[in-house]
Amino acid sequence: MSSRWANDDPETEAIVAEQKRVKEQKKRAKAEKQRLEEAKKAQARDANANGELGPPTKRRRLSNDPDAHSDDAELLKIEKEQKSQSTLLRFPVGEWGPCRHVDNFERLNHIEEGSYGWVSRARDISTGEIVALKKLKLENSPDGFPVTGLREIQTLLEARHQNVVYLREVVMGNKMDDVFLVMDFHEHDLKALLDEMREPFLPSEIKTVLLQVIGGLEFLHSQWIMHRDLKTSNLLMNNRGELKIADFGMARYFGDPPPKLTQLVVTLWYRAPELLLGADKYGTEIDMWSIGCIFGELLTKEPLLQGKNEVDQVSKIFALTGPPNSETWPGFRLLPNAKSLRFPSTSAPSSAGNPPLLPRSRFPYLTNAGLSLMSGLLALNPASRPTAKQCLDHKYFKEDPRPKPREMFPTFPSKAGMEKRRRHHTPEAPKRGQEAPELDFAGVFGGAPGGDTGEVGAGFSLRLG
Ligand SMILES: Nc1ncnc2c1ncn2[C@@H]1O[C@H](COP(=O)(O)OP(=O)(O)O)[C@@H](O)[C@H]1O
Ligand SMILES: [Mg+2]
Repeated sequence: MSSRWANDDPETEAIVAEQKRVKEQKKRAKAEKQRLEEAKKAQARDANANGELGPPTKRRRLSNDPDAHSDDAELLKIEKEQKSQSTLLRFPVGEWGPCRHVDNFERLNHIEEGSYGWVSRARDISTGEIVALKKLKLENSPDGFPVTGLREIQTLLEARHQNVVYLREVVMGNKMDDVFLVMDFHEHDLKALLDEMREPFLPSEIKTVLLQVIGGLEFLHSQWIMHRDLKTSNLLMNNRGELKIADFGMARYFGDPPPKLTQLVVTLWYRAPELLLGADKYGTEIDMWSIGCIFGELLTKEPLLQGKNEVDQVSKIFALTGPPNSETWPGFRLLPNAKSLRFPSTSAPSSAGNPPLLPRSRFPYLTNAGLSLMSGLLALNPASRPTAKQCLDHKYFKEDPRPKPREMFPTFPSKAGMEKRRRHHTPEAPKRGQEAPELDFAGVFGGAPGGDTGEVGAGFSLRLG
């Protein structure tokens, strides 16, 4: 028996089956369409989240393990950065306030008239704090605010480090070119201190001083800042044994490769040989040379190389280091002023090593490690000088006697704190905007006359062998 509903008829059965198939097909097509629409929507959502219209370029991983894949770590870092940026943006943006007036400071005493400004000790009337006030000398500005004044402010603002003088603010006087830097006050500069001391620093104290200068300089160089006027009068010390690099009047940013720069930088006695020989491409090595000169001065309390003019300076340098040769300083002959150098025909090879070791007789109290550091810093070839970072790792600082802890550093009466300082009779940094003179170095080895004093080569005898 069959059901009355049964489609026994094979023809009817075929029709029903066909209807069923079409219905199934439609159902599947509808599901597929829905799926495609869902996918599209999801893609649009992703694109929005990535801030782009196309599909995300990077597949997102779900693993949270930062070591699982460097892409993951990178992604997490970017996400973190984006997060912190968006958090930062929620804060109100800082505003440029007007500069305060210099009348907010009571001037106590004049400290020093330098090449580009004068400095006085002053009291911040609102807080009672003692500060140093430096008036920028801006008169050499043909077109309003001079770029060099801006550089001093900008580089100082950028150079926040425990061994760099702290610029608190910039204040104005009544005229547009009355611009003052307000800095933390420090009792001494190293030049005045050395002048006033009866005995030179102890070796342990020299290390403490040098480590701080070089530490500050390493930071400056890492920030692409060359100081270009390192000397003892630009190094400040307070009575807590802390040293601060100051006077950014010559400082500037440098690039890699270095741009063409003026050679008229760095006070003569601290000026590197490549500058004296007219190099217009130079780098941080010029600051390292100055550190070598400062090192020498710390040992004896006297500036190491006191040339009377550029030619005499080169002469004094070669008297200490021996003349360069193509082995110790390849390519020095190509420097503009090297063409006029006439070397003695019997030029003996300098002492062994590259850079050659300086004569021990000039630094009798220095250890071998100290002499090796000094010889590196005063290498004629800039490429042979150690970087600030390398100096900090030098064995000289690790051997006994160890650097004296800062808090054990002796204190000295401060001239700057009480009275006008004695003016140092030392050369100053070159004036800005000057043309570098063409120099005739024929007289460096005591031969033909050169320079403008007629004393060129005086006292110089070439050390042979
Ligand atoms: N922050 C300071 N605290 C105490 N004395 C300072 C300070 N800044 C500078 N001086 C003194 O003033 C002198 C000149 O300042 P500096 O910035 O070197 O100007 P210049 O460009 O005129 O050489 C320094 O040698 C130092 O004796
Ligand atoms: Mg100075």
